[in-house]
Amino acid sequence: MSKNIFVTRQIPNIGINMLKQKGYTVDINPNDSPLSQKKLISFLKKKPYDAVLVLLTDSIDAKVFHHVPNIKLYANYATGFDNIDVTEAKKLGITVTNAPTPLSTEAVAEHTIALMLALAARIVEADEFVRRGKYKGWAPMQFIGTDILGSTLGLVGAGRIGERVAYYAKGLGMKIIYTDVARNDRIEKECGATYCSTIETLLPQADVTSLHVPLLDSTRHLINEARLRLMKPSAFLINTSRGPIIDEKALEVALREKSISGAALDVFEFEPKTVPGLLRLQNIILTPHIASASIGARNQMAEIVARNIISFFEGRTPENIVNP
Ligand code: GLV
Ligand code: GLV
Repeated sequence: MSKNIFVTRQIPNIGINMLKQKGYTVDINPNDSPLSQKKLISFLKKKPYDAVLVLLTDSIDAKVFHHVPNIKLYANYATGFDNIDVTEAKKLGITVTNAPTPLSTEAVAEHTIALMLALAARIVEADEFVRRGKYKGWAPMQFIGTDILGSTLGLVGAGRIGERVAYYAKGLGMKIIYTDVARNDRIEKECGATYCSTIETLLPQADVTSLHVPLLDSTRHLINEARLRLMKPSAFLINTSRGPIIDEKALEVALREKSISGAALDVFEFEPKTVPGLLRLQNIILTPHIASASIGARNQMAEIVARNIISFFEGRTPENIVNP
């Protein structure tokens, strides 16, 4: 049976074409910019839509569900799904899917390592120095960085992405410690990772702390002022998960007062904004939520999100239901 699908913003065509090949009508938001919730609801009321392909910039909650009660599937084009009220959806019998893929997992792990190495080798500051014409000749004490070999990586979260970061870190000769609600036997066995039962025991030991947890009530501001104080003055903090895991104001203070050495963020607490002062700091690297933006990752995400929609309408259980 034909289905009407609304797509909140252009994604790679490979996914759109899969939906069209099934005979579905696919309408894409004509503007290449995020939709406000009000605007999204007005689009969804134009036609009897059966499913919506949503992005992490779309805020989907009770208000949307009540305005368009006939829509029974929200397929998120992201691994994280904190932009959707999955509990409310479940109450109303609405299915929510996410889109983790092998290459998006890899891309985020690679971006994490890229940020870590860029911090350690001071790549961004040094690039700016050369561009500004300040390089007057080699000097033995210029841009002294940090040694990664033999240093300790503290992973907060050892799910799919954290696990891949552990493998890369092992390759770099790092010692790995991790904390999570569940133990990860694979990284213990294959990367020699040591489990810490609490984040309080992990933070004082880690030279680099990297966050790989979903955004939940229990992880919001997981990194706060008190926990930043547990970190070494030489430590780096990396976040490629979700911005609100860190109290960004507290981080700005810690970096300004150099109670930690550096940070690299791909995500922000009040995205796309950053807290005042953060942009003036030298000891931070900022990227605009692009960790999963490799071409392979984005194509696989488009395919998997289309597969989830097709499975749903063909009566099979979609692979990535997040509110079963
Ligand atoms: C990106 O942030 C994702 O969750 O896929
Ligand atoms: C540095 O350029 C070196 O050759 O040691």
